[in-house]
Formats: sequence, C-alpha cells, structure tokens
Amino acid sequence: MKDQKNFVHHIRPIFVPSKALSVLYTFCLGGVSFLAFVVLGVTGLLLMFHYQPGNSTGFSSLLTLASVIPYGGMIRNLHYWAGQLMVVTVNLHMLRVVWTHSYKPPKQLNWLVGVALLMLILFLDFTGYLLIGSQESGAAATVAVNILGLIPGLGIGLAQVLFGEPSAISGSTLVVYVWHCFALPMIALFLQLYHFWRIRRDGGVRPL
Ligand code: HEM
Repeated sequence: MKDQKNFVHHIRPIFVPSKALSVLYTFCLGGVSFLAFVVLGVTGLLLMFHYQPGNSTGFSSLLTLASVIPYGGMIRNLHYWAGQLMVVTVNLHMLRVVWTHSYKPPKQLNWLVGVALLMLILFLDFTGYLLIGSQESGAAATVAVNILGLIPGLGIGLAQVLFGEPSAISGSTLVVYVWHCFALPMIALFLQLYHFWRIRRDGGVRPL
C-alpha cells in the first residue's frame, strides 16, 4: 500500500492481479476509448489551425480545409471516425462494466464518474456535429434549443449557455465552438485521469 502512494507506481504498479491481465475480461474497451480521445485531441488541434468558427464561416472553412489544405481531408476524416469509434467503445465499455457487475461497491463512485464521462462524450459528439455548420446541423441545433426551451424557467437560459444563438441554417456558433474545442475536452480529460486513478484506488480491474 505504501508503494501505491508513489505516482509512478500508480501508472505502472509493482503488483497486478493476474485476472486483471486477461484481455477477455475488459476487451480493453476503456483503453480503446482513451486512445480514440487522444487521436481526437491531436487531430482536433490540427483542425483548429484552419477552422473558422461562426454561423456563416464554419461550413465554408471546412470545405477549404478538406479540399485545399494538404492532408486536411485525412485529418478531418480521422477526427470524425475517432469520434464515432469513441461513442461506440464507451457504450460497449459501460455494457462490460454492467455485465461484470463492476458498478458495485467499492467501484460505485467510479461508475458515477463514468456516467458523467458518457454524458460529456455524447455532448462532445453533438457539438462537433453542430460545428459542421450545414443545414442538418442548423436543424439539429434548432431541435436541441426547442427541447431545452421546454424546461420551465431554466430552459431558455440553459439553451443560450449551451448553444448561443444558432441560426436556422447553421448550428455553428462561437459558444458551441468554445464548448467543443476547449471546455468539454478539458473537463473530459480531467475526469478521465480521475477515473484511471480511482481504478487503482478501488483495487484494480478484476472480478469482485
Ligand atoms: C471517456 C470514457 C471512458 C474511458 C476513457 C474509460 C476508461 C476506462 C479504463 C481504461 C478502465 C480500465 C478497464 C477497461 O479498460 O475496461 C475503466 C474501468 C471502469 N470504467 Fe471506464 N471509461 C470511460 C467511461 C466509462 C463509463 C461510461 C462508465 C460507466 C457508466 C465507466 C465505468 C467504469 C468502471 C466502473 C470501471 C472499473 C471496472 C472494473 O474494475 O472492472 N467508464 N474505464
């Protein structure tokens, strides 16, 4: 237990339960989700060099990015597919956790952290779709704003905070840009680091 206090031993512990080494227990779904997150971070940063946020500029800057900028199309596709992969693997990871009853004590707090991560990842995927700035994203933003508006008292303010003022033909606003490129990835990164730390604190990945 003394060794566990060392940060390095948190990353690479001296002792690992043999059952934790079985790939067939986790299918490495959490690990693949994190790998997708890293790919999303790197490709997202590269996209930010050319993407121009805003209701009228998002769509055209993406067209330029994908057709004129060297490797722009490849980076955009990598970002898109890593995002889709992450949504799939995070959901499968959650199913595995349910299947192996790993939401039970002492892992209940990490389950809740996971639920928060799931919400963040889904919202990241949705805001990314809005940033395309196409008519479809305009329609998606309108639906989201209208649904939120139904919440008595809070709804309209909440929609403003989350989406800004999307136009009917583009969901790509500066507010969505800030959520997608800065706030949500930062919150998700810190929650993931806490999620990993908690796995060790709760005794490691193994049948309860
Ligand atoms: C950003 C998304 C997520 C990442 C990167 C992630 C990553 C991981 C990793 C690497 C592990 C180690 C075992 C494995 O690979 O399966 C793990 C375990 C765990 N995860 Fe996640 N996870 C995420 C989302 C979730 C969600 C959505 C839930 C449930 C709602 C969840 C609940 C748990 C629990 C309870 C454990 C401990 C499992 C055990 O000890 O058997 N995680 N996670």
